[in-house]
Amino acid sequence: MGKDLSRRTFLKTGTAAALGLAMGSEALFANDSSDKATPPPAPLDRKLKILGVGIGGRGASVLRELETEEIIGLCDVDWKYADHVFKRYPQAKKYNDYRVMFSEMLDQCDAVVVATADHTHAIIAAEAIKAGKHVYVEKPLTRTVYESRLLTQLAAKYKVATQMGNQGASGEGVRQICDWIWNGEIGEVTRVDAFTDRPIWPQGLERPAKEEKVPKTLNWDGFLGPAPYRPYNSIYTPWNFRGWWDFGTGALGDMACHILHPAFKALKLTYPTKIQGSSTALLTESCPNAQKIRYVFPARDNMPKVAMPELVVNWYDGGILPDRPEGLAIGKSLNDSGGALVFYGTKDILICGCYGVNPYLLSGRKPVVPSIHRKITLNHQQDWVRACKEDPSVRVPAASDFAEAGPFNEMVAMGVVAVRLQGLNQELEWDGKNMKFTNIPAGATIRTMIHDGFSITDGHPTFENVYTDPVDANEFARNLIKPVFRDGWVLPELPY
Ligand SMILES: NC(=O)c1ccc[n+]([C@@H]2O[C@H](COP(=O)([O-])OP(=O)(O)OC[C@H]3O[C@@H](n4cnc5c(N)ncnc54)[C@H](O)[C@@H]3O)[C@@H](O)[C@H]2O)c1
Repeated sequence: MGKDLSRRTFLKTGTAAALGLAMGSEALFANDSSDKATPPPAPLDRKLKILGVGIGGRGASVLRELETEEIIGLCDVDWKYADHVFKRYPQAKKYNDYRVMFSEMLDQCDAVVVATADHTHAIIAAEAIKAGKHVYVEKPLTRTVYESRLLTQLAAKYKVATQMGNQGASGEGVRQICDWIWNGEIGEVTRVDAFTDRPIWPQGLERPAKEEKVPKTLNWDGFLGPAPYRPYNSIYTPWNFRGWWDFGTGALGDMACHILHPAFKALKLTYPTKIQGSSTALLTESCPNAQKIRYVFPARDNMPKVAMPELVVNWYDGGILPDRPEGLAIGKSLNDSGGALVFYGTKDILICGCYGVNPYLLSGRKPVVPSIHRKITLNHQQDWVRACKEDPSVRVPAASDFAEAGPFNEMVAMGVVAVRLQGLNQELEWDGKNMKFTNIPAGATIRTMIHDGFSITDGHPTFENVYTDPVDANEFARNLIKPVFRDGWVLPELPY
């Protein structure tokens, strides 16, 4: 028996174990029928051929970690912003429309990196996966719940290696938190509080009245992609897309994918059953300056050393902090690297920073426990490269494989939905499997503020806010869960 065979046997065991630990509900639902026209990717013993889409910002950093491989094509809608990346990889073909790049080069590549604005992650990644290509997609995996479900199912169907860009998932902190909780070190967890100090980009805005001239170097229509058409303004891109509902997911999408991940993984969360959101002024166009979301998760299967009872997760952003845990030293900031996560257990309180960094117990005790998880010795991007090169039948999934990242991202995207439905003044009940709310009364309507018309006239405050017409709340909710795309842009249906 060759070395190779025994390695495969090991990998097979490793895969099963890792899936057992990390598997989200979607992978469990997924059947095994693979598309006859697209066989699963074969194992590779050469460099990956990679296409990058959305390379001017975070994409540039991801590509730098992938320079062991061959970067053969690059696409960015903004050739000025992305110029430094095009220059770094002169051998790569340049595009400003990913559809053209895909039509010319998708069949030549093994893998695609997506680091565009949130609203185009799903449509780009779905096409790549359907062609049997491995994908690395920046967090948030998608802007909406349906899109996360879709990518999870497509990845399972086409057996590609996947990674969401929440790099903390490959870090030591997340493993340690799981090990401590699963060993019963803090007892049963019934409450988790989390926060981020973001947004640091503009939010709480109305749509700019002024139309600006589209720079020659920008493919504005390409940036909009599936989003409804709107005139160009330099406030949207680069970077600030985060704060606009049509393109981003606010502070939640930006930071909850890092901050909440240890809770999702260590507490084996799947779908919430109830959710409520509230915020500072909620406008039609742009995310609010600060938000609070309360999720309720049902009891999960108990683990050998710890039960997993019903749980409340509270999320805060925009500078609002959760209550300080009793016993936390006066003067100690909870904020570590952009936020924090506090697990309230029946025996102790566990606190960590963003990305799961620097976990500690409030009691000061330092648990010594057996380590259950695979230690990830490569960085987040290289561990995905490793997974891409393995045979799908024995592949050890990367730390943020879509089997976990998809259901996790649904949790994050649900927070956005709850905030946007706050005008219903009710706790929303969620049927996760069927992606629908079950208790919005038939005929209920909702409206949202277009213009915050507060002003002082002759020393008197006046409130002349402008709202949308009331719209059917169930339909509004459905649109938040599964977006309606601009003509010409189509997202695949769920394969299962
Ligand atoms: N993992 C992390 O730590 C981390 C850090 C920053 C950003 N991100 C994520 O990366 C993504 C991009 O964020 P950013 O800060 O780099 O934003 P950015 O605006 O700086 O960069 C996005 C790039 O994508 C390009 N782009 C946008 N739409 C495109 C399209 N349809 N086709 C091709 N190119 C397109 C833009 O021109 C720009 O160059 C976001 O989803 C964000 O959440 C992750």
